[in-house]
Amino acid sequence: MSVPILTIDGPSGAGKGTVATRIASIKGWHFLDSGALYRITAYAALRDGVALDDEEALSRLAAALPVRFEVDPGNGEVRVVLAGENIGDAIRSEEAGNAASKVAALPGVRAALLARQRDFHRAPGLVADGRDMGTVVFPDADTKVFLTASAEERANRRYKQLSDKGISANLRALAEEIAERDARDSQRAVSPLVAAADAVTIDSSDLTIDEVVRKVIGLMDPA
Ligand code: DC
Repeated sequence: MSVPILTIDGPSGAGKGTVATRIASIKGWHFLDSGALYRITAYAALRDGVALDDEEALSRLAAALPVRFEVDPGNGEVRVVLAGENIGDAIRSEEAGNAASKVAALPGVRAALLARQRDFHRAPGLVADGRDMGTVVFPDADTKVFLTASAEERANRRYKQLSDKGISANLRALAEEIAERDARDSQRAVSPLVAAADAVTIDSSDLTIDEVVRKVIGLMDPA
């Protein structure tokens, strides 16, 4: 039997990461956070002084990223280790997200990360979270979800996440950044953010995480 794949694509802040990790843990499947690969590439570029539009240098960097994802046996959290340094928190910043969205628009970078993403497809199954999981990386996935939420709700959620972590943020600036990132991710020439023709769209604006998880599991295992 082939190894099943669930893809969850959608704009920033729609709740993809939370829903994807919950389902991976319920099913005991692997989890691919493809956005992390773009964030790590951008982080490594900023660290090494590589310009965010130098496609050739960025593609080389992406192809050779010495990155490992390690699960902390104590709390189950995933550590992102780049050349021995735990950069899990550093790549979650707004700055890293915006830089990731810039490097992700370059075809050479996307091509360099393709095989690395497909390597996550292992038994017993995979939940893949991103922008082009169902359209480009895993077009034959068994279940495809496009998870959205209104831009206002996504900015509110991000604001709350940052305040919960004690990080001060400006709601209006966050909303503007989200709109800018949406536009860049949706309008780029390669692998733009778009729902696959065979994806089911779920709007999470008025749903709890549990409700979204139940809906997605219902699509995977229809009663
Ligand atoms: O999901 P995220 O916010 O961690 O992703 C960061 C950026 O990476 C996002 O703005 C666009 C890019 N990205 C992408 O182009 N393709 C993916 N499959 C995942 C992320």
